[in-house]
Amino acid sequence: MKHNFLMKLNLALLIFTLTFFLGVPSIYAVEGDKPMSAEEMRKAAAAKAAALAKPPPGGKWKATAKEALEALKLVGDVEEGEEIYTVCAACHFPTGWGDPLGVFPQLAGQHTTVMIKQISDIRAKNRDNPTMYPFAMQIEGAQDIVDVCSYIQTLKMNPNPRIGPGGPDWMLSNLRKEVWPISLDKIEQKVGNANFKKLKTIEEKEFKSKKEFLEALNNTIGAEEFKKHEAVILKNAHWETDLALGKTLYEKNCVKCHRDHGQGNFQETMPVIEGQKADDKPATEAAYYPVIAGQTYLYLLRQFSWIQIGKRRNANPDMVKQIKGFSFIDMKSVVDYAGRFKMQEGDWQEVGGEDEAGWGDDEEEEDDDKPAFMK
Ligand code: HEC
Ligand code: HEC
Repeated sequence: MKHNFLMKLNLALLIFTLTFFLGVPSIYAVEGDKPMSAEEMRKAAAAKAAALAKPPPGGKWKATAKEALEALKLVGDVEEGEEIYTVCAACHFPTGWGDPLGVFPQLAGQHTTVMIKQISDIRAKNRDNPTMYPFAMQIEGAQDIVDVCSYIQTLKMNPNPRIGPGGPDWMLSNLRKEVWPISLDKIEQKVGNANFKKLKTIEEKEFKSKKEFLEALNNTIGAEEFKKHEAVILKNAHWETDLALGKTLYEKNCVKCHRDHGQGNFQETMPVIEGQKADDKPATEAAYYPVIAGQTYLYLLRQFSWIQIGKRRNANPDMVKQIKGFSFIDMKSVVDYAGRFKMQEGDWQEVGGEDEAGWGDDEEEEDDDKPAFMK
């Protein structure tokens, strides 16, 4: 890694600060390396709207980038990786825990295969991440990707990640409409401008009980209007979750890929094909199912909704199909449920013999029998 990372770190810190204080939409003003003009931003917004109206076809979800395939075969250097990580730390934090609002995801504990795939996808513009793109492009190639992932593997997960409400949440919450497909702003047309203005006056105000919350809604727009619009208001701007519903949905729809406690999967056993000799093909192949256990609730929710509407283009098309019919309460409940899982020993790929990834072992060990990316 030959770059002067301290200089880039300053730039990363600046973007981080902008993102935090001006809100996520400000990051869309940066595309590639140079700032965009107002005209370019309008054009980009229009293109984004068009893209949302017609999601690009799926199918590009597997690690197909040449770089990812190359990286999977390499052995990472933790020390080099630590140096590279100084840039990443500006957004993902030195702990690798991301931020509680889920703008920046937790990387600690994520499978290496998943990170390699996501970083390569971001670099190949197969997953849109305008905030991180310029920094992802500073990485020089496959070796740097593996190095930084090897360092991230030494970071322990956040023992107390920000979880969802886990039940009733008596407030009319909103999130930035540019980032969230569902938000209070989206119901303006449905409830009418006058009602909407009134509703905004109690936004983010917490009530002690359901009774008080419904009373406040009644008082704010009047009983008759509330009755008319109750369903749409509660569906789009109310953050309550139902963990029992989440459990049912998780077990039915997610276990196949994210496994029984959200541990994801970094390795698939390949089916044995009749007539094929045992050593013709490797028995296992790298898999890219992310750890969702212990990830920040709001990040999970945002990614889930982006995957549903096709905004995250590199998503697994089978997952997209699986979650097609999910309502907002379904989505909130299932990710609230899944984020509360804890990773267990043995959930990660082994690093150098006995040790688990993510447990901070400093000694480098070699094991020639394993695929290189697992060393
Ligand atoms: C300027 C801020 C910023 C910097 C610097 C940055 N990232 Fe990110 N990164 C993000 C954001 C924002 C996301 C989530 C994007 C989204 O919501 O889709 C992200 C997502 C990711 C993901 C995908 C996580 C997942 O669960 O799918 C990986 C892996 C990642 N970053 C690794 C890195 C590495 C490695 C570096 C350093 C080389 C880095 N990032 C530097 C902002 C940043
Ligand atoms: C057919 C397999 C499959 C099913 C079923 C599935 N997922 Fe996924 N999921 C994936 C894959 C693969 C990814 C990573 C996509 C990519 O490569 O960008 C993913 C990504 C995610 C992410 C984003 C994680 C991150 O770090 O960015 C969330 C959240 C998620 N899935 C939740 C769920 C939940 C909850 C369910 C059940 C309701 C579910 N998924 C069902 C395969 C699946």
